Formats: sequence, structure tokens, C-alpha cells
Amino acid sequence: MTSFNQDIFSLVYLIATILFILGLKGLASPKTALRGNLFAMIGMMIAVVATIINPEVKNYGWLTAGLAIGALIGSTVALRIQMTAMPQLVAALHSFVGLSAVLVAIGTYFAHHETGHVDSTLMIELAAGSFIGAITFTGSLIAFGKLQGLLGSNPVVFKGQHLLNLAMALLMLGCATWFVASDTLLPFLVMTLIALILGFTLIIPIGGADMPVVVSMLNSYSGWAAAATGFTLGNNLLITTGALVGSSGAILSYIMCKAMNRGFISVILGGFGGDAAVATTSPAGKGVKSASSEDVAFMLENSSKVIIVPGYGMAVSQAQHAIKELYDTLVEKGVEVKFAIHPVAGRMPGHMNVLLAESEIPYDCVFEMDEINSEFSTCDVAFVIGANDVVNPDAKTNKSSPLYGMPILDAYKAKQVFVNKRSMKVGYAGVDNALFYFPNCSLVFGDAKAVSEQLVANLRGTGH
Ligand code: TAP
Repeated sequence: MTSFNQDIFSLVYLIATILFILGLKGLASPKTALRGNLFAMIGMMIAVVATIINPEVKNYGWLTAGLAIGALIGSTVALRIQMTAMPQLVAALHSFVGLSAVLVAIGTYFAHHETGHVDSTLMIELAAGSFIGAITFTGSLIAFGKLQGLLGSNPVVFKGQHLLNLAMALLMLGCATWFVASDTLLPFLVMTLIALILGFTLIIPIGGADMPVVVSMLNSYSGWAAAATGFTLGNNLLITTGALVGSSGAILSYIMCKAMNRGFISVILGGFGGDAAVATTSPAGKGVKSASSEDVAFMLENSSKVIIVPGYGMAVSQAQHAIKELYDTLVEKGVEVKFAIHPVAGRMPGHMNVLLAESEIPYDCVFEMDEINSEFSTCDVAFVIGANDVVNPDAKTNKSSPLYGMPILDAYKAKQVFVNKRSMKVGYAGVDNALFYFPNCSLVFGDAKAVSEQLVANLRGTGH
């Protein structure tokens, strides 16, 4: 490539990188998220086109076949995927990034050996790309299995687990050093194999409630794996994009850790996750009260302040539009209505915010946990719709709970709490919820959308 061409490509890559940064900035708020996505999509389109027309591309046959197969699979999956299955899709995509980093490292190793151009900087890049990629690959597969329900969400813990992880990490780094020093294949393969096992052992001890942190951490790892691949291939765009994903994923993990009161370092090292015994259903008949939609409607319309707590069940039943109608109806009746969002409600960061924004609930009545928690004690009704773990008071008091230490929405402090769910089944963390047995709490059984619609009908006097 001539230096003029090189300058043009560098400029185009710079423009794509700036668009990715604007994209990330836009994603910081639901108000600007659409614009952010648009910037990122344009940036990605520019990056793909620039890569295709790069004169260094030697074989258009392979490239076209790869693009066609990838585009077909990608668009089919994107069209069919449910919003609630998004986290496992993200985990699966992270695993692809990890695997490709390993494959690129192996391919580059052989290619450079054929031409005899091997230097120690390249060896370091290959080692880093391969072991970060391998950890990301198997770690993401386990995360996918847990999120998809193929593997239990309970932590798998055994004696000496952390010591074993530490020993494997040291052995892996030892093999990486041996590989760089000797330029032989054996330590490279052993290092990659250990990294594959390490990805597995780092993620299995992590319980359901802590999965959000794991997903954002693997997001970060996949970024660093891509950046290492960028160094290997000498591709500046891959380096900057990988670094953006790596650092934004790390920042998100840090925010998640703070929100869930978990130690950042122990998360990175896979050293957390409760080992408490977990239940799969709440003990039946332990004394919960149930309420009908008529009871709830009566209480709601006679309240002056209501706080609605949405959770994963709202996403499952796609109840956000019915909830918007409920909001409108209550506001028309002069009730003050606020929404309380827990940072890990649902199954992905910002899940509830996105759904509420989709149904056009005004942003100024949607509050984050820290902003609203002090208000539960002054509200008449806390209406929990499809949320469970994020309002479980055991997180404050029960040291044996896997949720212990995670800050919760203080719904239990309201004068009256109604919890809508379909059954006595547990939430994602797999534990019973102490809130259900509080004297001020009643359960409203049923699908979130159907119950919300019934409430609107009752409030408007059109219910049966
Ligand atoms: P969960 O604790 O998972 O509880 C959701 C509840 O919704 C369930 O108890 C379920 O009970 C109910 N539900 C399901 N479908 C419903 C429907 N159609 N109508 C009414 N209710 C329905 O949800 P949460 O409180 O939002 O907490 C989130 C959990 O997921 C946390 O443990 C969090 O750590 C974890 N997690 C979060 C993320 C992110 S980043 N947000 C990622 C991975 C994991 P029934 O089956 O009885 O109806």
C-alpha cells in the first residue's frame, strides 16, 4: 500500500473510531441511546467497507463467503431473538470474539513461521491474544449456559477453588513466558489449554444474582482480546475498537460491582459467588396473603403516592404498554406515580429503562435506586411488577443468602406492598423472598400484562 493510501485508511479508521466514541456516549442515557446506536452503526459500516476495499485483502472469495454466511446468521438471529434472551446472545457473541482471537493467534504463528519473520513483540501479542481469547471463549460459553438455563444458575464451588485458579493462572503465564523465550509450539498450546480451563473455572462459582457483573466483565475481556488481535494483525481500528470495548466493559463492571456491593478485584479474579444452599421454589403455604385486582385497584386509586417497581417479569410479559396505561389512569385520578429502577433489574443493564422508554413513560418519573429509596417510607403503595430478587430484604439481613450485601429497592418500607407474579417460583438468584411474608405485603398472582390491563379496567370502572 502506498503511504498516501495508508493515510486515507488511517483517516477513515479515525472517523470510525470517533463515531464509536460518540455511540458509547449516546448510550449513556435512554434519551440519546437511539442517536448513539446510529453513530455506532455508521462507524461499523465505514469500518467494514474500509476493510473490504483495503488493497491488503488477498482473497475476495473467502471474504465474501464469510460475510454472506455471517450476515445471514446474524440477521436471522437478530430478527428472531426475544428481548429477554439478549444477555445470552451477548454472551454467545463474546465467545465468538474470544475464539477468533485464539484462531488468529494460531494462524499468525504458523504464517510467520513459514516466512521466518518472528520477533518477541509478536510472540507477546500472540500469547496475550490467545490466552485472553481462550478465557473469554469458555467463560462466555458458561455464562451463556447459565443465562439460557442450560446450566443451573447456582454457584458451583469446591474446596481450594481459588488456589487452583491462582495456580493455573501462574502456570499459564509461565507457559506464555516460555513460549516467548523459546518460540516453540508446545508451551503455546499448553498455555491456551490452561486458559480454556481457567475460563470455565472462573465462571462456574458465580451464582445467578451476580451474572450481570460477569457479563459486563466478559464484555471487557472480549474487547481486550480484540485489541490484542489488532496488534497481531497490525490493524489500528481493531486496536482502538477493542480498547474502547475493553475499557467501557471494565467501567460498566465497576459500576455494576458498586451497585451490587461486590469487590471489583474479586470479580475479575472470579473469586466471588455465594455458596449458600438455594431453593428452587418458595415454601408453599408459608403464610403469604394474596390480593385480587379489585383490591389492588381500590388501594391504588385511594393513594396519594404510588411507586412502581418493574422487574424481569415485566419484560417476559411485555407489560410495559399496559403499565403505561395504568400510569396514565392513576395520574388522571390525581395519584403521584413514580418508577423505581434497580441497576440489575431484568437481565441486562438498562433493561427496564429501555422498556419504559419504549412505552413512552416520561423520563422524569423514572428514578434510579439511590434517588428513590428514601421515598418508599412515604408512599402509600409500592407495586412490584415481575420483580423479585431486587426487592428481597434478605439481601440486607440474611448472611447465608447469595444476595447478601446487594443493595435492594426498599419496597418493604411502603405502607402497603403488592407483588405481581405468576406463582411462588423464585427469581433469578434461586432464593425465596422474605418480602412475600411481610405483614404489609400481598401477592397478586397472574401474568404482568393481564394483571395491569385488569387494573386499568377496574380503575376505569369497566372491569368485571
Ligand atoms: P427476578 O429476580 O429474576 O424475578 C423475576 C420474577 O418475575 C420471577 O420471580 C417470576 O416469578 C416473575 N415473572 C416471570 N414472568 C412473569 C410474567 N409473565 N408475569 C409476571 N411475573 C413474571 O427479576 P428481578 O427482580 O428483575 O431481578 C433480576 C435478577 O436477574 C437479579 O438476580 C440479577 O442479578 C439477575 N441478572 C440481571 C442481569 C442484568 S444486567 N440486569 C443480568 C443477568 C442476571 P413467576 O415465575 O412466579 O411469575
